[in-house]
Amino acid sequence: IHYMRGFFMRSLMISGHRRLRGMINVQGSKNSVLPVMAAALLTEDKVIIENCPAITDVYHMQKVMQAAGAECDIENDIVTVRSGMLKSAPDEEYCARFRASSLFMGVFLAVCGSFVMPYPGGCNIGSRPLNYHIDGLRSLGAVVEEAGGYIIGYCRKLKGGSYEFPYPSVGALENIILAAVRAEGKTCLTNCAKEPEIVDLCDCLKMMGADIDGAGTGTIIINGKATLHGCRYRVPGDRIAAGTYMAGCAIAGGNICLRGIEPERLTAVSDILQKMGCHLFTDKKSNEIIVMADGRRRAVTSVVTGPYPEFPTDMQAQIMSVLAYSGGCCDIYDNVFENRYNAAGELVRMGAVISVSGGHARVCGRPALKGARVCATDLRCGAALVIAALGADCTIVDGCSYICRGYEDIQRDLEQLGADIKWIPGEELTEDLELQS
Ligand code: EPZ
Repeated sequence: IHYMRGFFMRSLMISGHRRLRGMINVQGSKNSVLPVMAAALLTEDKVIIENCPAITDVYHMQKVMQAAGAECDIENDIVTVRSGMLKSAPDEEYCARFRASSLFMGVFLAVCGSFVMPYPGGCNIGSRPLNYHIDGLRSLGAVVEEAGGYIIGYCRKLKGGSYEFPYPSVGALENIILAAVRAEGKTCLTNCAKEPEIVDLCDCLKMMGADIDGAGTGTIIINGKATLHGCRYRVPGDRIAAGTYMAGCAIAGGNICLRGIEPERLTAVSDILQKMGCHLFTDKKSNEIIVMADGRRRAVTSVVTGPYPEFPTDMQAQIMSVLAYSGGCCDIYDNVFENRYNAAGELVRMGAVISVSGGHARVCGRPALKGARVCATDLRCGAALVIAALGADCTIVDGCSYICRGYEDIQRDLEQLGADIKWIPGEELTEDLELQS
């Protein structure tokens, strides 16, 4: 119901200047659960996925899987999948709503030998082409063509092959892995993404009997299997949701404990926050991070995003909000997505001093920002505005349906950490709601 509230309420009102304190359990990872749900279609056995976040992207994934003929039930934080006789044309309406629908290309080739898919949706943070996905699937013997906004794929039998990624794309690697685990023979992938979400997907596939070596490194070797079996997999904590709340504490000040998150997945973010004057205490054994912040943040001279383990692009907007309050100027370079500074304009309306030119944003911190009515235009932009509001007077953030795509309940979590944050009725209902109802 959390994410439905985000749709129905659509706006958040935050009264800032309150230090954060307390503890929360971090939600399951959005960018791990989505490929794992797709992987569950690679076996006819039951797959049980635990610690799933209640986010709209999971809901959309469920709809695409059900429309394709699979059983997919969501009960609290448990998703149960039993793949039926899959059709090869996943549901257009839902596929066009989020990026992870692209992962069905690899799965449908492996299971049905074909697919017809509209171009996937997702946040407006860049052109987000699928050329590496398509080239990688072709390297496994598939015929893949694009026509009229659709992608069509066909392959009588996938054969192991080799592919060097021109760029360590997360989604493209996930797609190729999902196809290669059921291909005939050996696949060798190089210049692979090393994100923790790749390790999570491969952990789940290995529990299903897949033969994969090298997950989390630049080279992955897969020996395909004719069939895979069911499993019960628990989704690790969401490193970006955790990073978002750490950044919130860096703005509001205070002392918070985040549970259910592996600290080593956030090293690049922790390093920057420590350089800005936060004190962090991590405990690998109990998977928790404690953040303490007092006084004003120091600026760092630059923040440069890149493939893991470099600073994550998904934390770029949130760190921009922290820098907006810092005692100096910082240059942000997002080298992953070419158009991901949507938060800047809205932060400027709160009094931030930010200039954006091409792939670079320059932030000069101010001692205080003022409350305003601002609007989220993508998932992480929305999260950045919410945490920026923790340091200002009364702020209203519209467009919260974007936030609900990736955060189970940012209002519940921040309120539990001591923030004064409430859902309020926002702009008129959109077609999303008709779809949801
Ligand atoms: C995944 O997106 C994540 N989404 C993104 O998180 C994350 O920002 C991104 O990886 C990078 O870490 C999910 O996992 C659902 P990419 P993905 O393929 O796979 C270019 C969030 O906020 N590219 O690694 O789409 C692409 O345009 C979301 O949770 C091609 O040129 O990212 C981008 O510039 C946002 N051709 C760069 O590579 C391709 O075929 C990285 O994209 C594929 C990608």
